[in-house]
Amino acid sequence: MAVKGIVLAGGRGTRLHPITVAVSKQLLPVSDKPMIYYPISVLMLAGIRDILLISSPDQVPNFVRLLGDGAQFGLNITYAAQESPDGIAQAFLLGADHIGGGPAALILGDNIFHGPSFSDVLEENVRDVSGCVLFGYPVSDPGRYGVGETDASGRLISIEEKPERPRSNRAVTGLYFYDNDVIDIAKNLRPSGRGELEITDVNLAYVRQGRARLVDLGRGFAWLDTGTPEALLQAGQYVQTIELRQGVRIACLEEVALRMGFIDAEQCHRLGAAQAGSGYGQYVMNIASSFRG
Ligand code: DAU
Repeated sequence: MAVKGIVLAGGRGTRLHPITVAVSKQLLPVSDKPMIYYPISVLMLAGIRDILLISSPDQVPNFVRLLGDGAQFGLNITYAAQESPDGIAQAFLLGADHIGGGPAALILGDNIFHGPSFSDVLEENVRDVSGCVLFGYPVSDPGRYGVGETDASGRLISIEEKPERPRSNRAVTGLYFYDNDVIDIAKNLRPSGRGELEITDVNLAYVRQGRARLVDLGRGFAWLDTGTPEALLQAGQYVQTIELRQGVRIACLEEVALRMGFIDAEQCHRLGAAQAGSGYGQYVMNIASSFRG
């Protein structure tokens, strides 16, 4: 069964006020494109084409304006509103119909991933998901994240949300693959002390069943934070540095769609031509032309 994707792009964005008073955090620029392009590109690289985007009721129309029904990228994008940010795991309640009877991939709309052979890593792990697959990343400040602990054989034995005394330096990133049990697990959750349906509690349910895997992304990888003005700027500078140095663009949805075979070169060129006034649009046209050639 095809894996259904969910991008969670709500929240209050209070740590970025006043930048996020009028506009969703996930629509802010990271270098040359809106933040939401990065997580969408990750789902696309995993071969996922059916995507539910969840945001706050006032922001959903902005995402619709940006992405429409996704057909231009060979995707099917639908939308749901989260009335209030009552926890990441609520995505599975709002998305239960969208997920249907198969597996699901959730990505947080503010998570930026970049690294070697990432599409291979994704393809390998998205196939035949049984239980859950989490992605770990070494950080210097694990106490700000969900933190995973593995035993000597690499089996995941615990996850703690923002622990005061982290048991490892491995943050659990905001990309999660689940089998269909995730819906029932989410339905049975109770709000945590801070009043949220915690994604860490979903993951712990799988850990307890011995059905959770943690894939290490390793130090050659970039998993970037966008939670503060400083981190947001740094993420943009990171992307810009790589893009200028290599002459390629990270998370260019038109290019990803073309390379994944979701659209053809003609369609890609049309998408670039519609944005010909920007360097981004020019890049898309060039990619389409070189693909045709
Ligand atoms: O980024 C990875 C981390 O994301 C994980 O390591 C943690 O285990 C996980 O709990 C989460 O931690 P955060 O502190 O980053 O969660 P935050 O509340 O900031 O939410 C992450 C994103 O999801 C944020 O952009 C807002 C959005 N969100 C959050 C909640 C709680 C929603 O759209 N709706 C919500 O109800």
